[in-house]
Amino acid sequence: MNLSVTVSAPGKFVILGEHSVVYGKPALALAMDMRFTMHISESSSFMVNGLPATPSTMSPHMKFLSDLHGGNPLSIRIESRVPSGSGLGSSAALSAAYAGAVRSLNGLSCSKESIAKDAYEAEYAAQGRGSPMDTSASVNGGGIALNVPYKPEDFLWRIEKNERVWDVSRIDVPKMTFVIGNTGIRAATGPLVEKVKNYMDSSKFARDIIDEMGDVTLDGMKAIKERDITELGALMTYDHELLSILGVSCPELDKLVKAALPTSYGAKLTGSGGGGCMVALTDQPEKTADAIEAHGGTAYIVSTSVPGVTIKKNEDTKHRRQKRNNRS
Ligand code: MEV
Repeated sequence: MNLSVTVSAPGKFVILGEHSVVYGKPALALAMDMRFTMHISESSSFMVNGLPATPSTMSPHMKFLSDLHGGNPLSIRIESRVPSGSGLGSSAALSAAYAGAVRSLNGLSCSKESIAKDAYEAEYAAQGRGSPMDTSASVNGGGIALNVPYKPEDFLWRIEKNERVWDVSRIDVPKMTFVIGNTGIRAATGPLVEKVKNYMDSSKFARDIIDEMGDVTLDGMKAIKERDITELGALMTYDHELLSILGVSCPELDKLVKAALPTSYGAKLTGSGGGGCMVALTDQPEKTADAIEAHGGTAYIVSTSVPGVTIKKNEDTKHRRQKRNNRS
């Protein structure tokens, strides 16, 4: 009898702090109701969506995680509602879901911390750079902060890489409505992170902008605690200006941000930029969505406060483990 699991993990958007978080600055991100789901069962050879796995069907993230924990070949069926290359954390959700599956199928710990650490290593191996923000948001769900002061009970996990340290904590956010606007332009994260790094290496001005973004995120955290949505929105719009100065916006993103602003508290690009998506904080979601669509974007009114990674062992798997436990 084959072991099989269904795993699912959410996409995310960034309220404040993308790019600067790579340098250990604070960031705030929310998981949202677009999910990446995988149905996985043991098999005689690796298969993805019914086809033999090749480097193009099996992403480097999946290959990394399969190699990390070994185990039997798997047949994997993928259903994703997270558009890829759009700044909504599709590769992080894939890494979170697959890390959970591989751990579960190999009888390893499925604590969120262990899944978050594996998922980050997979993202890092595939991208060659980056922070654990996207993977942590997907694994934990809800809202997370990195490198902000937190109450001890909100601490989730610490992730370290190349002398950088990120303390990840959960955040409690007020009820807010966000609209995502997708430019439809796909942009990979790695080259944009590299672009910012090159700018920082050669310019004190760029390093000052990154510091300023860290301060803006801390102000955003304060606004969230004080339930000051107007202030949070203004900080998001300011952050978009800082991201533009760093060179990671593009005319299409600027156009959607501008279109959203008259009906929003604030708007900014989300994720690595260069295309992909923007996000608006609004209490008139339909109007904001219409404005985004009227300017060439695809709008999604998203829900937050969603669960992180979920792992469901299918009946056969449960029975087999049960039998094994009864025998031992
Ligand atoms: C991408 O969603 C966010 C970036 O900050 C990269 C990262 O944190 O790894 C641009």
